[in-house]
Amino acid sequence: MKRAPSGISPVIAVSKEAAKSLYKQVYEGYRQAIVDGNLRPGQRVPSTRVLAEELGISRIPVMSAYAQLLAEGYLESRIGSGTVVSTSLANRGAAPQARSNSPAAFAPNRRKLSKRCGSLPSAEGFFRRRSLLPFSVSQIAFEHFPLQIWNSLVTRHSRSASARSFDYGDPMGSRDLREVIASYLRTARGVRCEAEQIVIVSGSQLALEISARVLLDPGDRVWMEEPGYGFARGIFAMNGCQMVPAPVDAEGLDVASGVKRCPEARAVLVTPSHQYPLGVIMSASRRLQLLDWAERHGAWVIEDDYDSEYRYEGMPITSLQGLDRNRRVVYIGTFSKVLFPSLRIGYVVVPADLVERFLSVRFAMDLGPPTLPQMVLADFIREGHFSRHIRRMRLIYGERRSTLMQCIREQLGTEAEVPGGQTGLHLSVLVNGISDVEIAARAANQNLSLAPLSPSYMGKASRQGFVLGFGSTAVQDIAAAVRKLSSLLKSSS
Ligand SMILES: Cc1ncc(COP(=O)(O)O)c(C=O)c1O
Repeated sequence: MKRAPSGISPVIAVSKEAAKSLYKQVYEGYRQAIVDGNLRPGQRVPSTRVLAEELGISRIPVMSAYAQLLAEGYLESRIGSGTVVSTSLANRGAAPQARSNSPAAFAPNRRKLSKRCGSLPSAEGFFRRRSLLPFSVSQIAFEHFPLQIWNSLVTRHSRSASARSFDYGDPMGSRDLREVIASYLRTARGVRCEAEQIVIVSGSQLALEISARVLLDPGDRVWMEEPGYGFARGIFAMNGCQMVPAPVDAEGLDVASGVKRCPEARAVLVTPSHQYPLGVIMSASRRLQLLDWAERHGAWVIEDDYDSEYRYEGMPITSLQGLDRNRRVVYIGTFSKVLFPSLRIGYVVVPADLVERFLSVRFAMDLGPPTLPQMVLADFIREGHFSRHIRRMRLIYGERRSTLMQCIREQLGTEAEVPGGQTGLHLSVLVNGISDVEIAARAANQNLSLAPLSPSYMGKASRQGFVLGFGSTAVQDIAAAVRKLSSLLKSSS
């Protein structure tokens, strides 16, 4: 049985002026709260002393009401844990209120909602479907995270917390953290930035939402990579933008195709360092074409650089933002892959002249990021743990990735094409003549997580295949997982 927070007083109306006795009011108030399901079986109720104090009445009517509720079986006494709502009531089915909340109880035509939200992709099941099965996407090698170091930093900052650290922080994010991120981005990612241009957010998703609100109006058109990152679509849909699919090939987003389809788009969302989901890297000439188009048409480039810290062949690819001389690029980064997703810390590097706008939109949506995790992260980076972690994980993930590539070559042979695969924590395998969604559903029954590629297309999918995450898949499990994939493919052909 789920435990509700204990000892919190239920809302019951008690008036000394009422004709009904105080005892009866308390008794009836509690009984109703229990019958309605506002107080649940096993939930602890406040002591008679606390409740009498909160209601501003004497303890005697409260004691009498509790005695009556105990006698009738609504409450029970537990040695050591006070008085709780009777656990035997748990067997009586759903609370009446929960039942009357079922969608069928309301007429939908009298419950008008925004049209924009109706077109959002469903989030239902996202969390439920997440798993640590082989090939789960966006999972990290949790067992290699330097938890001890992280915990010691959490303890350090929790112990030294001051009155200031309990207050609202800087809505841009902690200055300390922005300084270390700026220095890291200049050095490792070739981003041209100062701490003053960085806004700390709760992940790329919020960064995108703020960017859309600052840069775009309803009806504006936005190029989206095709195939692309599905979660980004909800942002632009919510902001009333029209998304224009721009095809991706071996060189990344095809700028000429984008221009042909919609030259007057106001913005483009790109993942140039590691295209999601295909994994290709945007070529230098495409980068220059894109920046040139953006400058000539007054368009914005939103660069999502979500996992390029882990590059396994050659030098890291520098950011598109670093090439831009016209302040056209908004650069988004996240710690979800390089550290862990539940940290919920990301950042936007904003062109200097737009900082004020970004800040006011951010502030209107969310007064600022939580303080403690930022302090911990700033020290984690400043004290060298971050760069050590990246170096170590690059070897671990690198081995997983090369094992996966080799198994794909050996077991799937020419049947499968892997377009990218030099960066990040996932790669895509493209296979002709299959239904990736169907195979993925069958794989789930065999404890294999295959993310089908086709839903990454806004239009008709021109390729089928799977996005394979290798972040949380140990080297020794990879061959068996690819064998499973291979037999799923064989049985479907
Ligand atoms: C393309 C892309 N962008 C961003 C993210 C990270 O999002 P967030 O920072 O909101 O966790 C992911 C995670 O899988 C991703 O695939």
